Amino acid sequence: MAELGMGPFPDSAGFAEAQAHDAADALAEFRSRFISDDPELIYLDGNSLGRLPAATSDHLEEVIAQEWGSRLIGSWGEGWWTLGRDTGDLLAPLIGAEPGSVVVADSTTVCLFKLAWGALRLRPGRTRVITDDLNFPTDLYVLEAATEAAGGGDVEVIQSHDGINGPVEAVEAALDADVALVTLSHVVFKSGYLYDMRRITEAAHEVGAMVLWDLSHSAGVVPTDLSGVDLAVGCTYKYLNGGPGAPAFMYVNPELPLENPLAGWWGHRRPFDFDLEYRPAADIARFQTGTMPILSLAAITPAAQIVAEAGIGRIRAKSVALTDYLIELADEVLSPLGFTIASPREAARRGSHVSLRHPDAWRVVQAMIDEGRVVPDFREPDNIRLGLAPLYVSFADVHNAVHRIAGLMREDRLSKYRRQRSTVT
Ligand SMILES: Cc1ncc(COP(=O)(O)O)c(C=O)c1O
Repeated sequence: MAELGMGPFPDSAGFAEAQAHDAADALAEFRSRFISDDPELIYLDGNSLGRLPAATSDHLEEVIAQEWGSRLIGSWGEGWWTLGRDTGDLLAPLIGAEPGSVVVADSTTVCLFKLAWGALRLRPGRTRVITDDLNFPTDLYVLEAATEAAGGGDVEVIQSHDGINGPVEAVEAALDADVALVTLSHVVFKSGYLYDMRRITEAAHEVGAMVLWDLSHSAGVVPTDLSGVDLAVGCTYKYLNGGPGAPAFMYVNPELPLENPLAGWWGHRRPFDFDLEYRPAADIARFQTGTMPILSLAAITPAAQIVAEAGIGRIRAKSVALTDYLIELADEVLSPLGFTIASPREAARRGSHVSLRHPDAWRVVQAMIDEGRVVPDFREPDNIRLGLAPLYVSFADVHNAVHRIAGLMREDRLSKYRRQRSTVT
């Protein structure tokens, strides 16, 4: 069988259009800031793990050699001790928060638990917690656990009518004076649906409920304004490119007297007094618990600086243009091959990934990775998620990815792959 054409597809009239978009792209130069050792590979999974910025390698080498290798424990007083808060201050403008209101520590899952529990304790007597069935599973597990730990209640999972769009009206209709907390993903992980943060926050506040947003799929790519928002958490390893397992961020509105359920010495007011009684820090530091993973934390700084330099407004503008372009091409080239769009068509309601559905999605994904050299990810039962990270994905990438998928289908490259997903993927 002939080699699958890897593109670019100079014979395709559409490729000239992609090139024109790339030529006009204000962020084009940022692509070279990321390590990419395989020019054939089209990486569309920055919504799962962002690419490695070249500056991160240099920075970590220095942290390891100088701060760890030479300075040893001296480094605790020379930046390590405050790195969680300093990194929070670096992220704050990227997520529309005030300095001093964001701290980086723990995984998103742990951060969610901390803030959900804290919120529930501020609403004693209220028994209902509202979320939706588009939320990431860890959020639902955490809500159950935090609700129980905070004294009990019911977690109500509002159903989306189509598995794509957030059930906004149903969430609003569920709100009453018994609701303690509403927790939703701002951009949902499967379909990329983007909630209207202000609308939901205001509706919840009208009944006196708190709101906790999961910004994992918006931080670094969709602008947010957290003024008036109670609480938020999010990953740093997706569009913020902080690296595998990079710790997450917590935003706590400075006006809230929220407590941390996992009290630890890093959240103590005067940790080096080694006081046997816990007295929480008055500021955001009280949401820290124990010793930080300094190397992972350090990796966030150069990565977040790139996002700040590019500007979240320009990043969003390119993200909208890329996702619009992908949907347009998928309608034209992939719909006749059995694919459907499983993301909102309206850009204002969409984050930076687009999901395609196909009855044979798992085999398509395997063929894409092995033979098409396009890396998406698969989400049960039939979603092929294409994440378009604007800092390093080009319009030519989108064009070529769509045509490579079409080539795999036309040349029947799927038949050799298993239909069922193996247990370990
Ligand atoms: C929306 C959302 N929340 C939470 C998580 C999980 O975060 P962690 O594994 O870092 O705790 C993910 C992971 O992809 C996610 O997409």
